[in-house]
Amino acid sequence: MERRSFIRLCGMGTAAAVTGGLFLPGCAGIPHIQVTAVDGVLRLDKSVFAIEGKDTFRRSVIVEVSGSKAPIVVFRTSDHEHTALQLLCTHKSAELNVAGDQLTCPAHGSAFSNTGAVLEGPASDPLKRFAITYAGDDLLIALS
Ligand code: FES
Repeated sequence: MERRSFIRLCGMGTAAAVTGGLFLPGCAGIPHIQVTAVDGVLRLDKSVFAIEGKDTFRRSVIVEVSGSKAPIVVFRTSDHEHTALQLLCTHKSAELNVAGDQLTCPAHGSAFSNTGAVLEGPASDPLKRFAITYAGDDLLIALS
């Protein structure tokens, strides 16, 4: 399958194919990645979590999907464990902010864990979580 994914890091408008090695040194924020879904699936190379020149990894990346209600945050909890959550508050649909391993709502203060569980209300429902499977070094995120 041909990859049709493009990436934009740190809002700089830099685009490059996601093909196993994409890094921008000195990028301090959470990378924002634009990915095109193919047949309802997002393909994301694990290398987007790597930090060039370091043995550590980014905790998360934000995936922007055209036509989607809100971006998706993908957390890396280990080399083989990730969670993908819609960045949309379950209280009144405000877009969430990512801070470390938590998501916070700027509208009324709800907070969620990196698994989507409610940590603090007024939201009472967990975040929408997308199923992830793995294909080699790629994460396959099912949007349905
Ligand atoms: S919209 Fe998020 S707490 Fe109200």
